[in-house]
Amino acid sequence: MKKRVLSCIQPTGDIHLGNYFGAVKGWTVMQEEFDCVFGVVDYHAMTMPFNPAKLREATWKMTFQLLACGVNPDLLFIQSMVPEHAELSWILGCVAPFGDLTRMTQFKDKSNQVQEADKDAFISSGLFYYPILQAADILIYHADYVPVGKDQEQHLELTRTIAERFNKQFGKEYFPVPQPYFTEVPKVLSPADPTRKMSKSLGEKHYINIFGDEARMRKQIRTAVTDAGDTPEGEMSPGVANLFTMMRAAGAQAPHDRLMADYQKGELKYADLKEEVANALAVMMAPIREKYEEINADKRTWKKRIQDSSAAIRERAKQTLRDVHEMTGLGTVR
Ligand code: TRP
Repeated sequence: MKKRVLSCIQPTGDIHLGNYFGAVKGWTVMQEEFDCVFGVVDYHAMTMPFNPAKLREATWKMTFQLLACGVNPDLLFIQSMVPEHAELSWILGCVAPFGDLTRMTQFKDKSNQVQEADKDAFISSGLFYYPILQAADILIYHADYVPVGKDQEQHLELTRTIAERFNKQFGKEYFPVPQPYFTEVPKVLSPADPTRKMSKSLGEKHYINIFGDEARMRKQIRTAVTDAGDTPEGEMSPGVANLFTMMRAAGAQAPHDRLMADYQKGELKYADLKEEVANALAVMMAPIREKYEEINADKRTWKKRIQDSSAAIRERAKQTLRDVHEMTGLGTVR
């Protein structure tokens, strides 16, 4: 039996190189080896202030972009098409320790960040409760592994606690206690400030959009910061290292090795490096973009396809809720 893997992504606009190398590309590799389920989590996106039309648009956009990146449509669902996630999160919330929830650093960071910008800013209870919904996403499919980055480790730990408590309280080894699945992922930094992780929240010039304009990508690489001037003697500066990382991640090993040899001889020209990085990214992005255009030209078919895959995945979620109702003494016979 194949091990089950679950991962989800929030519909937050375009996929950038950091998301792609850090998560999405990993999904396309894992789906070949494991029993995978992947979700676009629109309920999660409601935890911060949002606009209904934009939320719906962003959800489909993320879905189509994942498909363009090579995620298998049969494994992909949209969270709100499986409303059992919300139901299970309520039930799990009743076995989750309140104290644990108050110690979630992501909640503290996010709410502080928002209130620093505006002290009267609205903080929803959903933002606080979000890790329970995440636990439901994972446990509803009996996942064995969850590929996680550092920022999600604490949420997964809470999920493990919840699974253990549920099992203990209801007398069975019902939920597998999920394990983090760490993969070697290249750390892609902002081209404009290579001391920070590539991220949308830093602003436009800090991320390279896979689905954006090629000319813009080339310009971002051409103007990428190389020497910040404070790199210790004999060490590669973070900006230059980031360019090499991107080239390797894009699969351009041969030019990478040649330019690395130049660097070691002290003969590297940054303009050459940048040219090769931009070429490597352009080659990598071209088929992904082509696929995205194809999908967009036939949105109706693809929407139907994802509605169908979500409905099929929902059947698995329903079975979990049937079991949970039975185990916890809920009156409804599902
Ligand atoms: N919280 C994750 C993020 O913000 C997204 C997410 C929601 C998730 N549910 C999940 C990730 C379940 C892994 C498993 O990136």
